[in-house]
Amino acid sequence: MKLVQKDSEKVIWDQMRTHASNTTSPILPNRVGSGLPKLMLYLILFVCATYLVYTLKLLNTSNLPCPEQDLLFSTRDSLQNITLTPAIVEPEKTELKHIVFGIAASAKLWEKRRNYIRLWWKKEAKMRGIVWLDNPVKTQPDDGLPPLKISGDTSHFAYKNKQGHRSAIRISRIISETMRLGMENVRWFVMGDDDTVFITDNLVRVLNKYDHNQYYYIGSLSESHLQNIYFSYGMAYGGGGFAISYPLAKALEKMQDRCIQRYPGLYGSDDRMQACMAELGVPLTKELGFHQYDVYGNLFGLLAAHPVTPIVSLHHLDVVEPIFPEVTRVEALQRLMLPMKLDSAGLIQQSICYDSSKSWTVSVSWGFAIQVFRGILSPREVEMPSRTFLNWYRRADYTAYAFNTRPVARNPCQKPFVFYMTKVRLNSTSNETISEYARHRVPHPACKWKILDPSNLDKVVVYKRPDPQLWDRSPRRNCCRVLESKKKGLVVDVGVCEEGEISEV
Ligand SMILES: *[C@@H]1O[C@H](CO)[C@@H](O)[C@H](O)[C@H]1NC(C)=O
Ligand SMILES: *[C@@H]1O[C@H](CO)[C@@H](O)[C@H](O)[C@H]1NC(C)=O
Ligand SMILES: *[C@@H]1O[C@H](CO)[C@@H](O)[C@H](O)[C@H]1NC(C)=O
Repeated sequence: MKLVQKDSEKVIWDQMRTHASNTTSPILPNRVGSGLPKLMLYLILFVCATYLVYTLKLLNTSNLPCPEQDLLFSTRDSLQNITLTPAIVEPEKTELKHIVFGIAASAKLWEKRRNYIRLWWKKEAKMRGIVWLDNPVKTQPDDGLPPLKISGDTSHFAYKNKQGHRSAIRISRIISETMRLGMENVRWFVMGDDDTVFITDNLVRVLNKYDHNQYYYIGSLSESHLQNIYFSYGMAYGGGGFAISYPLAKALEKMQDRCIQRYPGLYGSDDRMQACMAELGVPLTKELGFHQYDVYGNLFGLLAAHPVTPIVSLHHLDVVEPIFPEVTRVEALQRLMLPMKLDSAGLIQQSICYDSSKSWTVSVSWGFAIQVFRGILSPREVEMPSRTFLNWYRRADYTAYAFNTRPVARNPCQKPFVFYMTKVRLNSTSNETISEYARHRVPHPACKWKILDPSNLDKVVVYKRPDPQLWDRSPRRNCCRVLESKKKGLVVDVGVCEEGEISEV
């Protein structure tokens, strides 16, 4: 709100101020007339002061004038009208259109890796971004991919790391190069690799928590404790993707080329980025939904016990096994995109409940997989990722992680019966998703427990209402309830926990 004052009003204001500081001067505002008693003047001053105090309190802005002209002859009603109509403008929420992606790719792997980008890139959703390549590649029009550009020449930058590759310099400059394209209405630049898959709805949810007008560097660490020691526990790992707010990108662009020259010995692009962030004094804001996935083998354990935070990205998809069995990597991810479309906020979120009639523990990872365990396992056990994966040095060493994991089964009888999602649809009458999970048939060790054997189960059906507001509330796992427990299958309901409802038998 801008202060607009007529000259005559200014005179009144100045005179009133003089009067306040010097009570002996007989000051009478020219518009009020000469016969006004002193009492009236004090009254005006009082009303004016009260108004000011209230306005300042309500609006939190300090530049509102005291509208003498209105107040001098005003009734209480118009005073109220003025006080009650402050223009508090809701800030516009961050949407996909405010994000510009910078994707690091290489011509050599483009044929294969572009299939990962195609999984999440939606031209029709007006996504903006550039794939930055080292060399030209063949393209077809309307291939459903972002525009391609060749990175600027970096041969004059020194690169002195014996293990790494100098393409790291080119890749670390992607945000600065994207910034220089001068796109409008950008709030965030988001970096990813060509083998990163983003769940863009959740990316938007996470970025909405932060003020894009401030300096933010948002991402996540490696799963590997040793990687984090070698590189940094304060670095956003590039493959998992990270976000840089517009003003920070602007500040980065101004200094990055000088900064990079100071660190020729670093290995990659993301440690170069972190070195410049350290020079700018901006720490990493950790968001656990970005996944670097520096692991080998099967991601199952990590996905089935995802932290209670929206899943934003998946990376190293060429390194790990397909996330659904018996299909290709890309087909597996395509399948994950189906529940994502119906309820992105709830994708892969875990809930834990019990089939008390059978003494089974049920863990639902919505849209991905179900585990049924013989016996009662506590939530604190089931919410830990099971070690279905190897560490970044291809060893089964759980001291390699800076988070808790558990063995797949502490007792052979506790090896979970796993069901992978095969189908999902929305019943628009009941406004519920119905997802089906089919048993993954693998041999189970012999078990002498008296507890009923879940091996007769073929499928699990899960009902869940889409919950786009899930992350507007404080983080909490959903509750699940076993509705039907038949010989061949279970029917489970997943939703917001009711008053007093907890995960117990
Ligand atoms: C009250 O405020 C509204 C909105 O600012 C304005 O349009 C209207 O004229 C005001 N009414 C009076 C009585 O001042
Ligand atoms: C959808 O939900 C309605 C209301 O609960 C139910 O009557 C109907 O049978 C459901 N349709 C399908 C195809 O499941
Ligand atoms: C279905 O649920 C979603 C999410 O709670 C809500 O936004 C939508 O309005 C609901 N639609 C109907 C038809 O009830």
